[in-house]
Amino acid sequence: MKNFTSIHDAPNVEQLVQQAFDFKKNPLSQSNFAKGKTLGMIFFNPSLRTRMSTQKAAQNLGMNIISLNVNDGWQLEFEDEVIMNGNKAEHIKEAAAVMSQFVDVLAVRSFPTLVDREKDYADLILQKFIQHASVPILSLESAILHPLQSLADLLTIQENKKTKRPKVVLTWTPHPKALPQVVANSFCEWMDFVDVDLTVTHPEGYELSSDFSKNATIEYDQNKAFENADFVYAKNWSSFNYYGKILSQDENWKVTSEKMALTNEGKFMHCLPVRRNVVVDDSILDNPNSLVIEQANNRTFAAQTVLFNLLKNKKTRYEK
Ligand code: CP
Repeated sequence: MKNFTSIHDAPNVEQLVQQAFDFKKNPLSQSNFAKGKTLGMIFFNPSLRTRMSTQKAAQNLGMNIISLNVNDGWQLEFEDEVIMNGNKAEHIKEAAAVMSQFVDVLAVRSFPTLVDREKDYADLILQKFIQHASVPILSLESAILHPLQSLADLLTIQENKKTKRPKVVLTWTPHPKALPQVVANSFCEWMDFVDVDLTVTHPEGYELSSDFSKNATIEYDQNKAFENADFVYAKNWSSFNYYGKILSQDENWKVTSEKMALTNEGKFMHCLPVRRNVVVDDSILDNPNSLVIEQANNRTFAAQTVLFNLLKNKKTRYEK
């Protein structure tokens, strides 16, 4: 695997899932695999789960970790051919090339601005790292996709499904802030590669890019969508068509016990962080049918599997 920025970088999803379950059974089975290698983690935005699980995954493989919050330092320039006489002190060309001298994999988190759709969906920061780094790039969530989250989501569904082809419902939920479409885009993309019946439900105006939702059933009636669902994945996102806008904060879209009663004893999923009693009621999060903690636990094994594949057959930079 050269880089990991979407499901399209995974040569064999089934094999990836099996490797992740093997690591989950025995997390330290390859504890010397990446001895002497270093993971660089570059954060343009905050993180709890992604930071801790990826660091844990790297440690399970014997790696060292260097972590940098870019916003604690000077700002980077990503545009080419600019006269850098403003507040940006270093160009990504040097920054990515220099970071590559110290690490064997560069992992990058960069959220969208939610202001300029064209720029966000070009995924400029991630693409510039790919262009100018000389080591593999691992996405820790970009402006469009969150593949490590989606792999963990897939593991969680595979572990908990009771039928060969479960009904999976991705539901929009209210939220006080405008959030990216990233998790929803990525989840749809990964669900396309496995045998599930995917329904996406949201108020009108919250349609995702058809690049990601084209194979899902779109249902504007949330109650109808929940009928016989085996899994309910809740997530807020801001509008794609009216880019970055909050069009609705309708509390009727919150996930409640009454809504979950329509499902096939459905399991509840959310990538976290979640706002209790805004997105979903306490009664659902505190119910044994909530998978949110196991979903977060699976982040380690998703990241461990991806790091393993990125580093397979690679020497440390000090070896000939
Ligand atoms: N789900 C997720 O990516 O969590 P963090 O933002 O805390 O990393």
